Amino acid sequence: MDNTPTTGTSTTAAPGLLAGKVAFVTGAGRGIGAAAARLFAREGARVLLAARTEAQLKAVTEEIRAAGGTAEYTVCDLADPVGVRAAVDRTVDLYGRLDVAFNNGATIQRPGPMDRMPEADFDHVYTVNLKGVWLAMKAQVAAVRATAGTGAIVNNSSVGSLMGNPELPAYGAMKRAVNSLTESAAVTYGPEGIRVNAIAPGGTATEMIRTWEADSPGVSERIAAQTPLRRAADPGEIAQAAAWLLSDRASYVTGTVLRVDGGLRA
Ligand SMILES: NC(=O)c1ccc[n+]([C@@H]2O[C@H](COP(=O)([O-])OP(=O)(O)OC[C@H]3O[C@@H](n4cnc5c(N)ncnc54)[C@H](OP(=O)(O)O)[C@@H]3O)[C@@H](O)[C@H]2O)c1
Repeated sequence: MDNTPTTGTSTTAAPGLLAGKVAFVTGAGRGIGAAAARLFAREGARVLLAARTEAQLKAVTEEIRAAGGTAEYTVCDLADPVGVRAAVDRTVDLYGRLDVAFNNGATIQRPGPMDRMPEADFDHVYTVNLKGVWLAMKAQVAAVRATAGTGAIVNNSSVGSLMGNPELPAYGAMKRAVNSLTESAAVTYGPEGIRVNAIAPGGTATEMIRTWEADSPGVSERIAAQTPLRRAADPGEIAQAAAWLLSDRASYVTGTVLRVDGGLRA
């Protein structure tokens, strides 16, 4: 008699959520983007990581490879239109195609009322958080059309886009504009099989919230107290939502802004 314990299920591993796909991720050096790059690779995607800080990109890429995944990185500033296009094109050069993209990279502003915000700071938040997403989507649509034919894009918005955002007014405005661009893109590219969605994370334990905390001590605790789940998200929990939206399991979902906020806006 064979006494080998069995689980009662097949021993064949299920294919990953993103098996066979080529994924492009911005802001992939740390935080939510790094968690997403790791997760997408674990779920079977070949990944290109992009951001400005090479040391961080290199570290995450090596981690993914050490775990058996396929990853490369490219240094890219979302404020540089030529660089954004080149980063997306690099994905196609390396892997021969583009299927999915997570436009996650963004910057935060110094908190404070809008009348005290320097014009240059407003312009920077606009350039990186809104124009950068538009540039990336333009390049991604072209790359998907030229290679995979159909695909999916997820833009990282914020729960702070869904209401007045008096402490981060420019950040909130650009994120709300990202929601609008997402919806417009979903309508425009849906007929050719390119789905476009956004996620709206709540407070997530990353450098971005630590930067805000440094300017506004107690803000993380305040957000956690207002959140029904009473805690910040782990970056990996946000990445899970992006992975699902990019996967074929979300094949009938487009034009949505999915809150991943622990119930904050419920
Ligand atoms: N943390 C939260 O509570 C929270 C809540 C809602 C939404 N979000 C959104 O989640 C996304 C990820 O943020 P995070 O929390 O993970 O913050 P993070 O740890 O600060 O990561 C931001 C990433 O974006 C990259 N980035 C910033 N400016 C860039 C630029 N000009 N060009 C290219 N890459 C740039 C950063 O890399 P480099 O600096 O090396 O370029 C970094 O990899 C953002 O869209 C953010 O708005 C975060």
